[in-house]
Amino acid sequence: MPTITIEPIDIRQADETTYAALNDHRNRFRQERDAQLPPIPLAEAIGDWHNTPAFVLMNHWVVWDSEHKTIAAAADAMRFPANAENPHLLQFMITVDPPYRRQGIGTALLRHIVALAQAENRSLLVSGSFSGIPAAASFLYRLGAKPALETTINQLDLDHLDKSLVQKWQAIGEKVGQRYDLSFWDGRYPEEDLNGLAHLYEVMNQAPRGAIESEDIHITPERLRQIEATELSGGTERWTVYVRERQTGELVGFSETFWRPFNPTMLLQGNSGVQPAHRGQGLGKWMKAMMLARVMRERPQVNYVRTGNANTNAPMLAINHALGFRPHLSQTVWQMDLAKLIPQIS
Ligand SMILES: CC(C)(COP(=O)(O)OP(=O)(O)OC[C@H]1O[C@@H](n2cnc3c(N)ncnc32)[C@H](O)[C@@H]1OP(=O)(O)O)[C@@H](O)C(=O)NCCC(=O)NCCS
Repeated sequence: MPTITIEPIDIRQADETTYAALNDHRNRFRQERDAQLPPIPLAEAIGDWHNTPAFVLMNHWVVWDSEHKTIAAAADAMRFPANAENPHLLQFMITVDPPYRRQGIGTALLRHIVALAQAENRSLLVSGSFSGIPAAASFLYRLGAKPALETTINQLDLDHLDKSLVQKWQAIGEKVGQRYDLSFWDGRYPEEDLNGLAHLYEVMNQAPRGAIESEDIHITPERLRQIEATELSGGTERWTVYVRERQTGELVGFSETFWRPFNPTMLLQGNSGVQPAHRGQGLGKWMKAMMLARVMRERPQVNYVRTGNANTNAPMLAINHALGFRPHLSQTVWQMDLAKLIPQIS
């Protein structure tokens, strides 16, 4: 292995040179994962890093090249504080630039992650691999990790969208409109709905987690504001479509999309959820159709919509496939017991 120095950095307040080199490193990996994606501008990346939510603990490490010009490898570890959810769990990601692979750098970074997990008494590590980068699955498999959840990035080409289906789903409003009101929030959530939305957001815990040994994540109004600050940093525009039961005033469904000025032809579809008591009436389809119709009207530059789904999320996939979403990339979530991992890297 080459002589390397692994340097810890504080991602919330690193210096400009480190941010620039790390963003370049991340963008090289982004291109490798998906050549269709444009690089993230530095200002946008710094905005994201400065706004890393305070309710998660983050550690980062970087490996500079011998001339200290580029970052050749990086790693991060994310977890909740020990007194919060999932105190047993730590999620990590390691990226090594292709010319530096198979020299033990990934393993060296993993040793730092493992030391952190040991110091905090975490017992389970979770990471991910991507189709198109077989090295990642090989690396994790060799460590004894097990695939725990298969997911797909599905993509809709708006030229292939079935517009008559969108109209049909928009018309669901004629049936349910007496009971429910549908509307949009652009940008920040209004203060008066924050509690209701935090409660509704918990429905995302019902999305399939496969074999991942994790517990529900609780969404408080404070956490929602922290997530929002990250999402909206750097000029990202978020539209949230929501459904409210008129009689009770309760928020019962939502679906959100993100549009980033540096990638104007692509819209990202984020979370969507409907409260169990209000399912089976077409609220999910109604929200999706109203959002897509608005996007086509007000964002004519968008050609593609992307979303990530667990492969077992039948209700969400049924809606997405009907609209014309097709698999674009696949991702696997892997998990490994720390106790079994330690002998592999010692
Ligand atoms: C996965 C990744 C981090 C591995 O980094 P690395 O520095 O090459 O890893 P190491 O040199 O420490 O490899 C350790 C072992 O993993 C296995 N491995 C790694 N890459 C492999 C490949 N392309 N094919 C087969 N086995 C591989 C080997 O057993 C290797 O040991 P060996 O070289 O002695 O045979 C790197 O390929 C990468 O950055 N990929 C893109 C980022 C990514 O997808 N990360 C997700 C995983 S956290």
